Amino acid sequence: MTDTLKIRQPDDWHLHLRDGAMLKAVLPATAAHFARAIIMPNLVPPVVTAQQAASYRDRIVAALPDGATFEPLMTLYLTEETDPKDVLVAHQSGLVHAVKLYPAGATTNSASGVQNFDKIRAVLEQMAQIGMPLCVHGEVTDHDVDIFDREAVFIDRILDPIRKKTPGLRVVMEHITTADAVSYASSQDDSLAATITTHHLVINRNHILAGGIKPHYYCLPVAKREEHRLALRRAATSGDARFFLGTDSAPHTDANKLLPCGCAGCFTAPNTLSVLAHVFEEEGALDKLESFTSLNGPAFYRLPVNPGHITLERSPPVIPAQIETEDGPVTVFDPGFPLHWKVT
Ligand code: NCD
Ligand code: ZN
Repeated sequence: MTDTLKIRQPDDWHLHLRDGAMLKAVLPATAAHFARAIIMPNLVPPVVTAQQAASYRDRIVAALPDGATFEPLMTLYLTEETDPKDVLVAHQSGLVHAVKLYPAGATTNSASGVQNFDKIRAVLEQMAQIGMPLCVHGEVTDHDVDIFDREAVFIDRILDPIRKKTPGLRVVMEHITTADAVSYASSQDDSLAATITTHHLVINRNHILAGGIKPHYYCLPVAKREEHRLALRRAATSGDARFFLGTDSAPHTDANKLLPCGCAGCFTAPNTLSVLAHVFEEEGALDKLESFTSLNGPAFYRLPVNPGHITLERSPPVIPAQIETEDGPVTVFDPGFPLHWKVT
């Protein structure tokens, strides 16, 4: 039995850090284990220009605990008004690594997202030319489409047509939750990749709804049936370079989660690596953990792998059930099983 596991230091290819007091409270958990992360731009107001991304980056670096090294890889929030020239400037700055597409209304703080996909043609053409990845929240928002079908419908109605119209566009299907997304990503060329969260490898929709409603398991895209969770596990543990970790760790205070209309998001940053080691071990794939957390992402983003390593050791980690913030407690994702891998 393997009792220690040394892997390249991981990166998180989809992370919400928020701003202000929340940023300060949640950043240490990520910086403790991860070297870099793709930082989501869905602040209020959103991060839409290169200049806003640069100043958000400065606020993140300023919030780092003393001595911590962590590199925020910034993104721009795509709106129908985004200027292709600004995207080029952002790309050339070296600070901005991707543009994020939210269909308007799909998730937390997505009101400024895209409604008319024809309006973003020029930006997409520009991105295809310079090889800048488009990170996609892949859900339609039509009220007549069942929430459990919104990812699969998005692939057919929006994503595939966009990719066909924009040859060379490099796309990350973010936080995929369905067997449909796994099979679409697997069937395409290497201009397409997909991130998978930690929690979607653990929970299915029963965890949210059976035996009482569990707001801390509610996130978007919402967890689907068990067969989809199993397809995600197969993809994540396959070693296929197109699949890599994007935790989508998305902190909300308990006060904002436990409401009649509560916020979507699971806060997984503190225990993600312990949970992943557990999942990969269950799948008999501990040897594939490093590809998923540390190798496949840099390859897609055309960045070097991290020079450092981390070691996981078979022993129970000490992870708080909640972290305190000035705005109130934030509950850490509960995988529902005891953890027995810790990052040393
Ligand atoms: C995210 C958030 O809270 O910002 N929520 C979530 O459920 N994942 C937004 C997102 O990535 O959809
Ligand atoms: Zn997210």
